[in-house]
Amino acid sequence: MFQKFLILLFPLVVFGQRIWPPESPVVTDQLCQEEYDKIIGCVRTPLFAKIDDMPLPDPIKNQELVNEITHVLDCSRLLYCNSSRILQSYISNQRWISDHFHATLSDCLTFEAERKIIEQCGGIEELQCDLFNESNLLCHLTELEKQPNCTERHVEPYVRLYTAIRSSCVMGIQWRSEMDRHHIKEKRTI
Ligand SMILES: *[C@@H]1O[C@H](CO)[C@@H](O)[C@H](O)[C@H]1NC(C)=O
Ligand SMILES: *[C@@H]1O[C@H](CO)[C@@H](O)[C@H](O)[C@H]1NC(C)=O
Ligand SMILES: *[C@@H]1O[C@H](CO)[C@@H](O)[C@H](O)[C@H]1NC(C)=O
Repeated sequence: MFQKFLILLFPLVVFGQRIWPPESPVVTDQLCQEEYDKIIGCVRTPLFAKIDDMPLPDPIKNQELVNEITHVLDCSRLLYCNSSRILQSYISNQRWISDHFHATLSDCLTFEAERKIIEQCGGIEELQCDLFNESNLLCHLTELEKQPNCTERHVEPYVRLYTAIRSSCVMGIQWRSEMDRHHIKEKRTI
């Protein structure tokens, strides 16, 4: 891989001009608004509005949303504003969470089980990421093991889920602050 890189570099030196990589655009509020509009412009289905609620309990709807996320990421491609990158990272993390949940936890972490865990350990209010902490996680794991279809083998996947949801929370806060910093106007998704 490294060698390939050296070979690619060679012609650039010979021709004495920069043909790769192209100049990164200067990050301005306007660019960030355009990039944001581009991402939202890639959305084709109203289901996308459910992205914060992932994983969706209905596996068919969930898969539909996972596919839509893949489309939005393919369609919006590489962007330059941190606000755009954070948004892409967030939706990509939401996709991971959903895939992971349906692959490892859906048989144990039913709606009912989740409700009981939250009852005991407290829910996470929107963007209060400090509520995700070791003692709270311990509470979650203790309650998880009490749920009818949950066993020892669900613990590790649950820890990963918990950590990923926390990451989404942190990205949400960073995204908000970047959106404010660049005065980006939000659009309702279709
Ligand atoms: C984007 O984020 C990176 C990493 O945090 C930072 O170094 C860079 O200055 C940021 N760019 C802008 C334009 O704010
Ligand atoms: C950990 O989170 C719980 C709720 O999730 C909260 O009540 C508690 O104060 C937090 N502890 C610390 C040390 O932040
Ligand atoms: C436990 O699993 C069984 C079989 O998959 C299912 O029918 C049942 O509803 C589950 N129970 C709970 C409380 O989730």
